[in-house]
Amino acid sequence: MHWDRLIGVIPAPVTSLWLGPVHGQVYYPYLPCASNLRNLTSLDTCMIDTEISHLVLSPSIRTLRRVYSSADRVMLAFDQLECVERATVLERLDIVCFGETEKEAKSMLEETASRRSNPSLLLLSLLAFTHVSIFTRASPPIHWGPCNSSSITNPAILCSFFEIPLDYYDPEAGTGRLALAKLNATQERRGSVFFNPGGPGGSGLEALDSNGETLLEVTGGFYDIVSWDPRGVGSLTIPGEIFCFNSTEEHDAFFNGTIELAGIEYTGNFTDATDIEILYSQASIMQQKYKKLGEKCLSGPSGKYLRYVGAAATVRDLVALADALDGPNQSVNYIGTSYGTLLGSWFVNMFPERVGKVILDGVVDPITFATKQISLSGGNIITDADKVYEGFVTGCALSGSQGCPIASNASSVEEVDKNIQSLLQAAHDAARKDPSVAVSSSDIRSLFLSQMYSPGGWSTFANSTYPQLVQAVGQETHKNSSLVPREPSPISMKRPSALGRRDTSFVRRANQSAGVSYTSSAIWCGDSIDQPTTAMLDVFNGIIARSRNVSRMYGGLWPAAIYKCPFWPVRSVERYRGPFNKTLANKIIVASNLFDPATPFANAQKLVDLLGQSAILVTQNGFGHTTFAAPSTCANAIAYAYMVTGKLPDGPTVCDVDAGFELFQGVNTSAILANMHVSGL
Ligand SMILES: *[C@@H]1O[C@H](CO)[C@@H](O)[C@H](O)[C@H]1NC(C)=O
Ligand SMILES: *[C@@H]1O[C@H](CO)[C@@H](O)[C@H](O)[C@H]1NC(C)=O
Ligand SMILES: *[C@@H]1O[C@H](CO)[C@@H](O)[C@H](O)[C@H]1NC(C)=O
Ligand SMILES: *[C@@H]1O[C@H](CO)[C@@H](O)[C@H](O)[C@H]1NC(C)=O
Ligand SMILES: *[C@@H]1O[C@H](CO)[C@@H](O)[C@H](O)[C@H]1NC(C)=O
Ligand SMILES: *[C@@H]1O[C@H](CO)[C@@H](O)[C@H](O)[C@H]1NC(C)=O
Ligand SMILES: *[C@@H]1O[C@H](CO)[C@@H](O)[C@H](O)[C@H]1NC(C)=O
Ligand SMILES: *[C@@H]1O[C@H](CO)[C@@H](O)[C@H](O)[C@H]1NC(C)=O
Ligand SMILES: *[C@@H]1O[C@H](CO)[C@@H](O)[C@H](O)[C@H]1NC(C)=O
Ligand SMILES: *[C@@H]1O[C@H](CO)[C@@H](O)[C@H](O)[C@H]1NC(C)=O
Ligand SMILES: *[C@@H]1O[C@H](CO)[C@@H](O)[C@H](O)[C@H]1NC(C)=O
Ligand SMILES: *[C@@H]1O[C@H](CO)[C@@H](O)[C@H](O)[C@H]1NC(C)=O
Repeated sequence: MHWDRLIGVIPAPVTSLWLGPVHGQVYYPYLPCASNLRNLTSLDTCMIDTEISHLVLSPSIRTLRRVYSSADRVMLAFDQLECVERATVLERLDIVCFGETEKEAKSMLEETASRRSNPSLLLLSLLAFTHVSIFTRASPPIHWGPCNSSSITNPAILCSFFEIPLDYYDPEAGTGRLALAKLNATQERRGSVFFNPGGPGGSGLEALDSNGETLLEVTGGFYDIVSWDPRGVGSLTIPGEIFCFNSTEEHDAFFNGTIELAGIEYTGNFTDATDIEILYSQASIMQQKYKKLGEKCLSGPSGKYLRYVGAAATVRDLVALADALDGPNQSVNYIGTSYGTLLGSWFVNMFPERVGKVILDGVVDPITFATKQISLSGGNIITDADKVYEGFVTGCALSGSQGCPIASNASSVEEVDKNIQSLLQAAHDAARKDPSVAVSSSDIRSLFLSQMYSPGGWSTFANSTYPQLVQAVGQETHKNSSLVPREPSPISMKRPSALGRRDTSFVRRANQSAGVSYTSSAIWCGDSIDQPTTAMLDVFNGIIARSRNVSRMYGGLWPAAIYKCPFWPVRSVERYRGPFNKTLANKIIVASNLFDPATPFANAQKLVDLLGQSAILVTQNGFGHTTFAAPSTCANAIAYAYMVTGKLPDGPTVCDVDAGFELFQGVNTSAILANMHVSGL
């Protein structure tokens, strides 16, 4: 194993350090360090924003060892103690050091030095030209064999493992492994296409099992389709699924009596004063619970892995895997859906020269994620969820009582919506009287949200699940005394399994038999920006605001991984913060449904705008999460041509969903679109 230590070692003692310039700019004058940083005594690391550029080290700290930097942060690590956070990227020290090129850096450095002859500047200059490289190793050949995993049912899929360093910058952190799966190319093999289904925390093995054949078709059979359980996922990859409790029972007891188990009850657009008061009454207890949860996660068996499960490491895994399977320095082909697009936008910008054929479908907004607190903003996730709901209600009304029972006796969209809102109101009122009711309004909202992902299931949902909900809520409403033994609910609702199975980007509860998974939280929160002063009340206020302004139906859903982020105990060792507008070696496709409940169309537009000439937008005129949610011969043909011949449409392209695809009896996508008002419901 050969590697260069990633960081300069600073010969102690130093008493003062000048930092600051990023992207070739020198800041004058340097600002004094924040006062709380002046008196460092026992801190192992000190993170300072680049604006805070002059750090005076207290006499007791003379063992500064390493400097890390990224586009937006500089971090100092002190002797013997591990870094809690490490700033990003490849070019890290070049960025600290005043220039993209050595020449530029030198001249800027000299200029700076001439204005301020400070010895510690020279100290930095040594660092400036310490070229950093991550360690590389010749990976052993990958031997494919039969899959032992219960997630794999397709006998054509082969499995293997791939060793990874836990930390690409620190071999001392040890190694892990990825569980791999692939479908062989059926034509003359041109390489691999790597696939990530999203989540975060979705299993690549399961996704390959269910979507592999489709992906083979779309790519013409010329590529092996390869996926893997990323860090933090499943029981085969190491680090595997993140657990913080020994059992589901322990989890339930820990959160007994809180919204974590019961969800949030509200009606309309969350304007009712009592609803708000009740939510607020949980603020301090939930904040304590989440802090305690963080401690449990950190001290539990997954704790030592929390900092290694982030997206940057997963991107490096992808590239290392491509090196091993397709040869070093070859272009990397990748299809990412949902959260897989965040991996994708990090990948193409971290390794622009390695970009081969890439399709990103159902886009998570990388800029918002890199710059905003997703716990407060919701990360632009559900922006269009109510529009999809309007699509559902419109389709139901168009189909009428013959095709959609929710429309019974109702002819208009407004009436169908009113039926659903009445059901929510009744469930809400019942849950207010007895919080232990089998079906709360929060449960119904979760179930509806999960339906928004797949329009192909709308008719079945309206025919079978919805009437059961009506029945269950009816029983709750007519039951006056909580002494009456509860009837078993027709549907198990407390943990909607539809949500757990699906890539929701929002709520994920994987493998309940093994306990409650915190993989999604670990990945979202490990990579999210720091939010030290955010209180639970702020998170709640964001929820109320989104219920009023963004999504009346789904704004108040709880829990969601992203709300744990202010209280999460660690950040990932590497977080990519941009830029997201690099020029790529190959043009990529960015695809989106017009109305996607979890990844709004605007995100795709934003990513394409960022990538300029390097990306082309394909819009699918329909509903659901990612274009895979509905069949489109047009979208498939574009993907096929791109993967097989390299040909792309000349400009942004709009595809229809196939006309024969019925969402309700006699109602196809274009019929719904033609009748939507989007979304004044
Ligand atoms: C499958 O099981 C065998 C025997 O237990 C083991 O040697 C092999 O590594 C396993 N392979 C995979 C891909 O899980
Ligand atoms: C997959 O392809 C490899 C290499 O071409 C070949 O050795 C192997 O037998 C194939 N496996 C299956 C299941 O088709
Ligand atoms: C969870 O398991 C660990 C290790 O087995 C044990 O030390 C701990 O006490 C358990 N916690 C609870 C609450 O049962
Ligand atoms: C939750 O609390 C209630 C009353 O406070 C108690 O009766 C119940 O046993 C608790 N449930 C669990 C799982 O601890
Ligand atoms: C891969 O590319 C890098 C940078 O262009 C180059 O330094 C390296 O030698 C290449 N490695 C191989 C094996 O071609
Ligand atoms: C529909 O109308 C019928 C007959 O008027 C009535 O019995 C039934 O309760 C109505 N259903 C709904 C859901 O309003
Ligand atoms: C739902 O019920 C309607 C009316 O009976 C029927 O036409 C339709 O096929 C059903 N949908 C599904 C998916 O079974
Ligand atoms: C779920 O967890 C159980 C218990 O750890 C394990 O036996 C099972 O294989 C897991 N299922 C999946 C799909 O990972
Ligand atoms: C709703 O959005 C408007 C305009 O963006 C904003 O001014 C207002 O404060 C928001 N309301 C809430 C409750 O957040
Ligand atoms: C919230 O709902 C009320 C009552 O339906 C309505 O009057 C109000 O305009 C809604 N507010 C927003 C911001 O949509
Ligand atoms: C990328 O974005 C940055 C910051 O927004 C901007 O300064 C830079 O000019 C952009 N680069 C390209 C190639 O567009
Ligand atoms: C789709 O719906 C439109 C509008 O109702 C209709 O004109 C068209 O014939 C439908 N297509 C199919 C294949 O059913």
